Amino acid sequence: MGGFAGKLAVVTGGGLGMGRELVRQLAAQGCSVAACDWNAAAVADTVAMAQAGAPDGVRVSNHACDVSDEAQVQRFRDELLSEHAADDIDLVFSNAGIGGGASFITSSREEWERTFAVDWWGTYYCARTFLPLLIASGDGVLVNTSSVNGFWASLGPRMPNSAYATAKFAVKGFTEALIEDLRTNAPQVRVVLVMPGHVGTDILANTRRAHGTPEPENTSAARIETAFREKARLTAAAAATIILDGVRSGAWRILVGADAKVLDAAVRARPEAAYDYANDVMANAPTARSLAIMPSGSTSTALGVA
Ligand SMILES: NC(=O)c1ccc[n+]([C@@H]2O[C@H](COP(=O)([O-])OP(=O)(O)OC[C@H]3O[C@@H](n4cnc5c(N)ncnc54)[C@H](O)[C@@H]3O)[C@@H](O)[C@H]2O)c1
Repeated sequence: MGGFAGKLAVVTGGGLGMGRELVRQLAAQGCSVAACDWNAAAVADTVAMAQAGAPDGVRVSNHACDVSDEAQVQRFRDELLSEHAADDIDLVFSNAGIGGGASFITSSREEWERTFAVDWWGTYYCARTFLPLLIASGDGVLVNTSSVNGFWASLGPRMPNSAYATAKFAVKGFTEALIEDLRTNAPQVRVVLVMPGHVGTDILANTRRAHGTPEPENTSAARIETAFREKARLTAAAAATIILDGVRSGAWRILVGADAKVLDAAVRARPEAAYDYANDVMANAPTARSLAIMPSGSTSTALGVA
């Protein structure tokens, strides 16, 4: 595809992190954007920033929506079509996501299912709701954000990440399955799979809030949230640039960050050794240790970032 100018994009989870940066960069490049988030204040701020940096004629709208609720996603669609006076959509970035439900054994069932609902059902409902509008555009792109945990279902020794990895594997499988489905049945739309490594965002704090977990009382837990953001090699803005460059290039598979590339190569080279932490293959992916996406109660040792 050419650039994004003159197009209309949807970004879920546009309030903070990579979503916010996608909204800002798309708008700066002349793309109108409808951004949603369940954090209404955050997405309102994003939209004000993006609109301020956008050329004349670009419209950026904000919408409150929990992507794990299909009725809310449909309401978001209706609102944005009306606000943008549009009949179709050019790009959809299914970016909203949370962590949590690290253990199938010890995490609460409620937390596990909540994480899965946002990360998998949110992606699924957005595809169900927006694919007809991408097809109608005649040249649509659906961009689904998975993770390195979409091809590697752990964060290292003593660091399970079961709900998140299960959902992110589902996002990866679904997105890859759509490649041939769309080629066969709707060739005017293509899909893109995004697999970030460690990106410096506030996803740990946002995850804690999403699960209704109180502010951390001990300073070590609070430090971990900050360290997750500050110790990443990649900022949210740099990650968004990699994603947009990848989409523009026509790639269907975008690994975000050097750590994601190393981990992908290691797992594909020796899949049977992916969970054998003693071997040097996984030792080649040391930054995987800092990828923990957990809501609360995480220890600095478990996160590997403190
Ligand atoms: N940060 C990383 O290291 C990393 C690594 C791999 C994958 N990812 C994935 O990248 C995506 C963006 O993550 P981020 O790091 O920018 O996180 P973030 O927490 O900074 O931003 C996520 C945004 O999504 C919103 N959101 C969460 N649940 C929602 C829901 N149910 N409905 C609507 N909005 C919702 C949040 O309010 C927030 O604004 C996520 O899918 C995440 O799983 C992140």
